[in-house]
Amino acid sequence: MHLLLSEELLEVKQLARQIAEEKIKPIREELDKKGEFPHEIIKHMAQSDMFRAFIPEEYDGLGLGISAMSIVTEEFSRVCAGVALGYAGSGLGALPIVLMGTEEQKKKFLPSIASGEKLAAFALTEANAGSDASNIQTTAKKDGDHYILNGTKQFITNGEVASTYIVIANADPIKGIRGLTAFIVEKGTEGFSFGKHENKMGIRASITSELVFDNCKVHKDNIILSEGKGFKVAMKTLDFSRVGVGAQALGIAQGAYEAAVEYAREREQFGKKIINFQLIQAMLADMAIKIEAARALTYTGMAYIDGNGNDYARVGAMVKTFCSDVAMEVTTNAVQVLGGYGYMKEYPVEKMMRDAKITQIYEGTNQIQRLVIAKEIIKRGAEITDMY
Ligand code: CAA
Repeated sequence: MHLLLSEELLEVKQLARQIAEEKIKPIREELDKKGEFPHEIIKHMAQSDMFRAFIPEEYDGLGLGISAMSIVTEEFSRVCAGVALGYAGSGLGALPIVLMGTEEQKKKFLPSIASGEKLAAFALTEANAGSDASNIQTTAKKDGDHYILNGTKQFITNGEVASTYIVIANADPIKGIRGLTAFIVEKGTEGFSFGKHENKMGIRASITSELVFDNCKVHKDNIILSEGKGFKVAMKTLDFSRVGVGAQALGIAQGAYEAAVEYAREREQFGKKIINFQLIQAMLADMAIKIEAARALTYTGMAYIDGNGNDYARVGAMVKTFCSDVAMEVTTNAVQVLGGYGYMKEYPVEKMMRDAKITQIYEGTNQIQRLVIAKEIIKRGAEITDMY
């Protein structure tokens, strides 16, 4: 029996590990080098019901919630965080519909995301709306039963490969943040195309691109919640999804730690395996402590969020911040343990260090997360979360 995971979650985790080892590991280096999206692996994930895990049962899913999305992301990220992001990005795109969609929207869009036939994407960020997420310039002008979208979204995960997009646009710019509205936009809608395809430092097996809306007509039935509720939709989605970023960071840290231990057991210097040197041992011990703490926080946080804990914004921010800082530290030290070899591309740790960096940045920088947490401290004083 696992202390924090149910039998079902453990089974999903084991299957995800098997896919990571058998399908992702052999080609992760090539995908990273070429910056190529793993279409075949995504198909295999779909056939193995990985995308069903986080979709409610009523819409052809397994109903295992954020917990399933997180542990699958953790296992894929242990081997390749770029490939994992194709999966997690679809989870992020599906979340607004799962959490806040109408029954019709859920019936229409979730089954094909559950089967993996379609990927989803979440489009909030723009050139001038990063941390300042409400400063959105994309407009949505009302036209009878439709809205006409104009503007450009930037840095969108699953950009060209998704089919179902959640797009935040402003339906009433005079109202500022209260004009923001969340739309479901399908690929192929007239006036919706793709712009720049980004060339990234890490997570190179994922697609990141611009979405361009040029008089793109979207029916009002595709609005999530209602006109003016777009900021709320975006914030709530991120509150729920950030545990998944934490899990991604945890997986990267775990992969780098394993590589460092393996290397330290084999590498000889001064006539000894380097694992016998106490300064190496101290680095490995620190990695182990931080990974265990990150895992305990992630698994408790995801169970809390799935169990309808109401302090989810703060919990999500804590998990994301702690795990991504751990991932950056662990991967950097893993490169250090491998020394000169760690810096070379024949070993996976330099890639893991590049991959780790984004987890401190996306879905809200760690600076923003600390503000989210601090807001609660100001409101509640020294009260801790009610997770336990
Ligand atoms: N849930 C619900 N409502 C919320 C909320 C939340 N978590 N946070 C704020 N709000 C509400 C507030 O209550 C307020 O409403 P009222 O005016 O009715 O009181 C309103 O929204 C405005 O709140 P703030 O004044 O606090 O908003 P702000 O403009 O100062 O921004 C912020 C707050 C936390 C900094 C926010 O902008 C933020 O989270 N920024 C980071 C954005 C981000 O995470 N981007 C990631 C992009 S997605 C991505 O990276 C995905 C990928 O590709 C992998």
